[in-house]
Amino acid sequence: MKTVRDYIRTIPDFPHEGILFRDVTTLFADPRGLRLAVDQLLHPYAGAPIDKVVGLEARGFILGGAIAHQLGKGFVPIRKKGKLPGPTIGESYTLEYGEASVEIHNDAIQPGEKILLVDDLLATGGTAEAGIKLIERLGGEILGCAFIIDLPDLGGRDKLVEMGMNIHSLCTFEGL
Ligand code: PRP
Ligand code: MG
Repeated sequence: MKTVRDYIRTIPDFPHEGILFRDVTTLFADPRGLRLAVDQLLHPYAGAPIDKVVGLEARGFILGGAIAHQLGKGFVPIRKKGKLPGPTIGESYTLEYGEASVEIHNDAIQPGEKILLVDDLLATGGTAEAGIKLIERLGGEILGCAFIIDLPDLGGRDKLVEMGMNIHSLCTFEGL
């Protein structure tokens, strides 16, 4: 039986030399792979009192939408700067390669709402940390952060655990 990890393709030297890019498009393109990933991501939260699923652009939208649908909850996007039409709050962060800012609509989460945060990959944790800060600034309470892939050697898991987060990941790849 194939596992989620088996469906992920590795592309060397993308987007820069020396980076091993973990490509989830091959997982998403396979009907069994996609269902396996979505089912396993939401499994720990099936009985949890989640109010909303928040997804991080871009691959977190694919997973977050499917998970929200399955849980019967709403979905909220955290987008790259300048993409959301309404009033927003933003956070800047450093990526594995480069700098970025993300935003959320300032009325997308009500104080006290319980949130599941979703993305495809946890590397340095910069993207997730920015998302966590945005959710917490709006008064959301994060019940869990779910990722398909954890790259523990890049330190993201440790950073998020230090922030008090509950992390759920489906597979790991060693090395940078
Ligand atoms: C990738 C990945 C995560 C993030 C993880 O997204 O999808 O969102 O990097 O890295 P970090 O833990 O070091 O922050 P990317 O920024 O490439 O953008 P995309 O999802 O819009 O393609
Ligand atoms: Mg991303």
